[in-house]
Amino acid sequence: MKLPSSSATDLNKKNMEHMVSMKDFSVEEMDRMMELMSYLKEARQDNAIPQLFKGKSVAMIFEAGSTRTRVSFEVAATLLGGHALFLSPKDIHLGGKESIDDTSRVLSRMCDIIMARTNSPETLDGLLKMSTVPVINGLDTRFHPTQMLADLFTIKEHITDGRALSDLTLAFMGDATDVCRSLMLTCAKYGMGFKQIGPKKYHMEQAWIDLAEAFCAESGGHIEITDDVDQIRDCDVVYGDSFYWVTQTDEKAERLAAFMPDYVITEELMAKAKPGAMLLHCLPANDQEEITRGALESEYSVAFDEAENRLTAQMAILVYFTHKHTHLPSADVVKKHEAKIGDFLKTL
Ligand code: CP
Repeated sequence: MKLPSSSATDLNKKNMEHMVSMKDFSVEEMDRMMELMSYLKEARQDNAIPQLFKGKSVAMIFEAGSTRTRVSFEVAATLLGGHALFLSPKDIHLGGKESIDDTSRVLSRMCDIIMARTNSPETLDGLLKMSTVPVINGLDTRFHPTQMLADLFTIKEHITDGRALSDLTLAFMGDATDVCRSLMLTCAKYGMGFKQIGPKKYHMEQAWIDLAEAFCAESGGHIEITDDVDQIRDCDVVYGDSFYWVTQTDEKAERLAAFMPDYVITEELMAKAKPGAMLLHCLPANDQEEITRGALESEYSVAFDEAENRLTAQMAILVYFTHKHTHLPSADVVKKHEAKIGDFLKTL
């Protein structure tokens, strides 16, 4: 089948043009995205954001709830001069009256980029298969790449002593979530240390550890998966996430019993990490489950800066993934169409 040629149709470059997981990007590419974030953040601080998404639209599919991802993409599109469409399965025919393939084809014909938070990899894969515009994974059950960009950027912003990312070790407290997996793979790419600290039953799947270790062999990073909370002692960054996802509420009691109290991020736990260690949390936070309010509000917590940087990241993502396909018309072409349509309108 012939797909429209207006945008990302080169399937060999699929991972370059869609954003499924940070594992698909080189460190250089991730650094470029963060450099763009820094320029856009400066421009926002000066209330002078270039209108780089003017006249463009992002289709935002949300199969699951969201505060940060939804609001940040919507505000980012507005700040850049474009428009965001919030599309829940209740509002569109996704996978119901219409196949995911056809939904993807139609959205591609009307919008410039698709962002999707999906409850299964199959939905995202279906969108990817037929989309002719970039597809951004706004969280599926495997990866959360837009969160990674905000997280790396926030860590870099808060390193004050000249250390590089590769000098740091990050401890993820909890189970093998999409965020945990994404952090492990991203840290491995950057040559960072990564530790998942949690009960054995909830440790990362071996296939993903193998992939992270392959990245580490190139980058000099190191991975440790442990149930020993004391392993937090040489960590520069401590990261929290919910002990259960919305689709796992039937496991909530079992999970809380397995994780609490040992793996809860408290001020006492933070005192065991490296002096000066910073605390991140992807949010939303469940007070008195995976983190205490005291830790979240402490001076070493950068969780709300991290949340704000979701907006910085989304601005960069909208620009980074669409700018190659932007063809600005010449003044002559604009004049030609204005004249033609203007002449027609006079006849009405
Ligand atoms: N961290 C995160 O993705 O937040 P939301 O679920 O609110 O989008």
